[in-house]
Amino acid sequence: MTDRNRVLPQAVRIVEVGPRDGLQNEKVHVPTDVKVELIARLVAAGVRVIEAGSFVSPKWVPQMADSGEVLSRLPRHEGVAYTALVPNLKGFESAVEAGCEEIAIFGAASETFSRKNINCSIQESLDRFRPVIDAAAQRGIRVRGYVSCVVGCPYEGPVPPQKVAEVARWLHDNGCYEVSLGDTIGSGTPRSVQAMIEACARAVPLAQLAGHYHDTYGMAAANVYASLEMGMATFDASVAGLGGCPYSPGASGNVATEDVIHLLNGLGIETGIDLEALVAASAWISASLGRPPASKVTQATLAKASRAAPPGAD
Ligand code: HMG
Ligand code: MG
Repeated sequence: MTDRNRVLPQAVRIVEVGPRDGLQNEKVHVPTDVKVELIARLVAAGVRVIEAGSFVSPKWVPQMADSGEVLSRLPRHEGVAYTALVPNLKGFESAVEAGCEEIAIFGAASETFSRKNINCSIQESLDRFRPVIDAAAQRGIRVRGYVSCVVGCPYEGPVPPQKVAEVARWLHDNGCYEVSLGDTIGSGTPRSVQAMIEACARAVPLAQLAGHYHDTYGMAAANVYASLEMGMATFDASVAGLGGCPYSPGASGNVATEDVIHLLNGLGIETGIDLEALVAASAWISASLGRPPASKVTQATLAKASRAAPPGAD
């Protein structure tokens, strides 16, 4: 059972998903060099787990078609894990070829979303994940699991916490070392997120649950805080709030990593990530994509720096 008044965690683990969840939504082509450089900058800022790509069908998500090259080109560092999404055995084989040490399978708590996203029912997706988990276990590759639509579904509306817990339980019981709870459409608010976590924590130890909150309604940072109150200590986040597109109404990225780090720094919670270097990485990728960062922290930091710069300075 969880206790809403428990002491906040002393340290938090960040899973950086910008290079995957963020860049999978880009309407413009993002060169492989830019992806590799972004990931290098994130590592230099102290990020230790990075979802670097996705071995899905290139017909479905062409933005991730170069994931094999991205993963193959990344320099390996002690203590840094690169992971990638894998929907089936075909994707698993490509992930192995690219040298992935960890993969993530991704299911949903909503039938309609499951069909739209991976073209099968929830049960069919779990049947498909089973051999992927077995193949990963044989090679010593760690498997993370995602549940999408943990609060709301774009097609079905509100999703019952119990449904989320059932899928989370399956993923945990079948070998996922961690289950990431995805508020895909960002419709969660602190109380609905806490109710969802409470249900999931009855099925999966809280230490093996992670929060993955999209910021569509501006509630993601509040939902991170609400999750910290529940004792959750792992969060997915996306540098610069990458994801979604200004030309695609309704789409929005994950909570910005630098906003989460700013929040955690203010709470005295350790992450091992250097905020200044992260903001610089955020500014760099935003400039590369030709638009301002969605992160308020990066916006404010850049504005302050430009006010402080002497006249005529670049
Ligand atoms: P399908 O069409 O049902 O699959 O798609 P299929 O097995 O019938 O194969 C169709 C074609 O795709 C075949 O090629 C396969 O070889 C190929 P063809 O014969 O037509 O030339 N194919 C593949 N190619 C490369 N890699 C593969 C692969 N598998 C099949 N792994 C499938 C089923 C799952 C493949 C498809 O639906 C798919 O790729 N979906 C991915 C969708 C996706 O990536 N969504 C975004 C990620 S999820 C997310 O963002 C949520 C998350 O962030 C959490 C949250 O926020 O909620 C994680
Ligand atoms: Mg997501």
